[in-house]
Amino acid sequence: MDIRKLLKEMSLEEKIGQMLQLSPHNFINKSETKIHGFEYDLGLTTKQVFLAGSVLGIGNATEHQEVQRKYLKDSRLKIPLLFMADIVHGYETIFPIPLALSCSWNTDTAFHSARISAFEASTAGIQVTFSPMADLSRDPRWGRVMEGYGEDPYLLSMFVRAMVRGYQQDDISAKGNMASCVKHFAGYGAPIAGLDYNTVDMSRLSFYQTYLGGYQAAIDEGSKMVMASFNTFDGIPATVNQFLMIDVLRKQLNFNGVTITDYDGLNQVIVHRVAHDQREAAIQGIEAKIDIEMASSCYIKNIKDLIETSIINESDINDAVERILSLKSELGLFDNPYGHSNVDDEKRLIKSNEHLSKAKEIAHECAVLLKNESNILPLSNNTKVAVVGPYATSKSTNGVWSWKGNINDNISLSDALINEGVDVVYINGENPVITDIDMLREVDVVICALGEDIEKTGEAKSIVDLELPLFQVEWIKLAKEIKKKVITVLYNGRPLVLNNIDQSDAILEAWFLGSKSNEALADLLIGKKNPSGKLTMSFPRHEGQIPIYYNHLTTGRPFNKDVHNIYTSFYLDCESTPKYPFGFGLSYSNFEYDNMVLSDYEIYLNKSITTSITITNKSNVAGYEIVQLYIQDEVSKIARPEKELKGFQKILIQPYESKTVKFNISMKDLSYIDSLGETKWEYGRYIIMIGTNSNSVQKKDIIFKENNNEDKKHT
Ligand code: BGC
Repeated sequence: MDIRKLLKEMSLEEKIGQMLQLSPHNFINKSETKIHGFEYDLGLTTKQVFLAGSVLGIGNATEHQEVQRKYLKDSRLKIPLLFMADIVHGYETIFPIPLALSCSWNTDTAFHSARISAFEASTAGIQVTFSPMADLSRDPRWGRVMEGYGEDPYLLSMFVRAMVRGYQQDDISAKGNMASCVKHFAGYGAPIAGLDYNTVDMSRLSFYQTYLGGYQAAIDEGSKMVMASFNTFDGIPATVNQFLMIDVLRKQLNFNGVTITDYDGLNQVIVHRVAHDQREAAIQGIEAKIDIEMASSCYIKNIKDLIETSIINESDINDAVERILSLKSELGLFDNPYGHSNVDDEKRLIKSNEHLSKAKEIAHECAVLLKNESNILPLSNNTKVAVVGPYATSKSTNGVWSWKGNINDNISLSDALINEGVDVVYINGENPVITDIDMLREVDVVICALGEDIEKTGEAKSIVDLELPLFQVEWIKLAKEIKKKVITVLYNGRPLVLNNIDQSDAILEAWFLGSKSNEALADLLIGKKNPSGKLTMSFPRHEGQIPIYYNHLTTGRPFNKDVHNIYTSFYLDCESTPKYPFGFGLSYSNFEYDNMVLSDYEIYLNKSITTSITITNKSNVAGYEIVQLYIQDEVSKIARPEKELKGFQKILIQPYESKTVKFNISMKDLSYIDSLGETKWEYGRYIIMIGTNSNSVQKKDIIFKENNNEDKKHT
């Protein structure tokens, strides 16, 4: 398709229409369609609706085809509509929530879940997904941490890249692929006090060092679209923030794809009180090169007049529309407006056994074993168990971004255990009453399936109390009163404060693992599978510690438990360390680390060295271990974190086997990004750490020199 030629044929109204995204019910009256966000009456004429260029959400292939057909029938130039939706962790086959996915430390899980999601969603007519969410967050009060990939920029970037690769592959027009729209640019994961949509106030240094990398990873991987975030940044809403949208996105990151507002984000510029009215918001949006306005009407109602009165240039509109049409062309929509939407395939292939078994395989890798005293897990044969608590009988394991997932097709934990032949003698999904104690006396082990209500996680679901409700904890107390062993299985979308379940003998962090959650958890509980997940967000001891993250700076007065000095950095009423640190997770195997070796103690410009360590499985159970490499720059011009993740490997080790894991270290791993976004490196001493989690590492020093003779330090 010759886009420039098409552009010349388009009227100004037709061009402006391309910059509007509406929900499908504007075109047809169907109830199957789900959209996200409060729906405003935009007061559009039918003519304006039928000029819109894209659609937010669609129910299925039939509906998709109906909307496209109706739209194209009266369209003058037959430019097809583009369909976008939030396919975040699955379409109908639901995968673990992204936070859980990252706990696999295996980017293949992200890749394969994105492949299947793209296949299923594109079969139903969706061509762009609003995913991945690359917002780094350190605040579990923020409900959207469930949609992210944890607190570490390196790990986040790896997962984001795998998601984009999985959705798009090399060719977004090919069957089974879709385009990715990374969101929410930028800094949306850092709202003050974890309150969704709240102000973001960060230094340029934090922005470049910590928060930008996730979005950059998506763009480097070729993500076709970028969604602006709701928050302000330096006092200016991201949607119209020219530093973010032009200086960083277009110039520093060289992004030349399509930008879109978040849901009614352009209108919110008025609510932020940075624009008086829709007309001013439209001017600001165009000046920030925002191409598509989602679910509000600043552009469609004002751009024509703004051009006619020479307030904005038509060439800016032409550029935006050219980007939008090029995306449609790249998706192959001019050749086939229906894309890969196919009613037969939809019936046959969506949520197939193959997809579901992949979902189960992935779920196995995402649960994290937090505690396992006296090796109570895995359950031994013939153990009589009670399964109690709200998640004993619940099938609600999909996680919130699963609008096409049907929880009725899932099974509960108690049923999954029964299917595996576990002797489940008591099931109770309600709150406990004192007489339940008689039933608990009959069993050897009480499995408490506790957690957050799924509706307390996700967008607009900020909370301040991260403890489990007391009525749930009562189950543990009841079981402990009669000295029963307790295994707590936790269903939640964020790190929680777990002090009130300390009495549990074992804790399995189950997150929301999707369609096959409970089958996968049953496999882990009985030892058919060995837990291998590790945390990607620190679990605080108390809400007052938030934000808490492993890669913090040292402070000028660090706490030292061996020296009595009250003038140090500590809380009077709580330990300042996390309850469970970043990178932590147990296994039924017992891994020992030994013999850390460096290929050289000196590293030179453009030369790399290797470090290795030997891990021995001292148990009779084969298991996966996630080996983590951290680096500290001992002294630098700007304070740098105590440690930063620079590599990891997930390896299978057979019983009593030893394996040596090797990491390459190059200048890139020693470098940092400064407050202008530039990469810097400094000569000097670095501490190389390898370990099983961020809090348990072995260390060795290396010196970074210009060449064999130099030992100077400069940038
Ligand atoms: C969310 C976005 C989402 C959009 C469309 C917004 O409220 O912040 O993440 O893509 O709705 O559903």
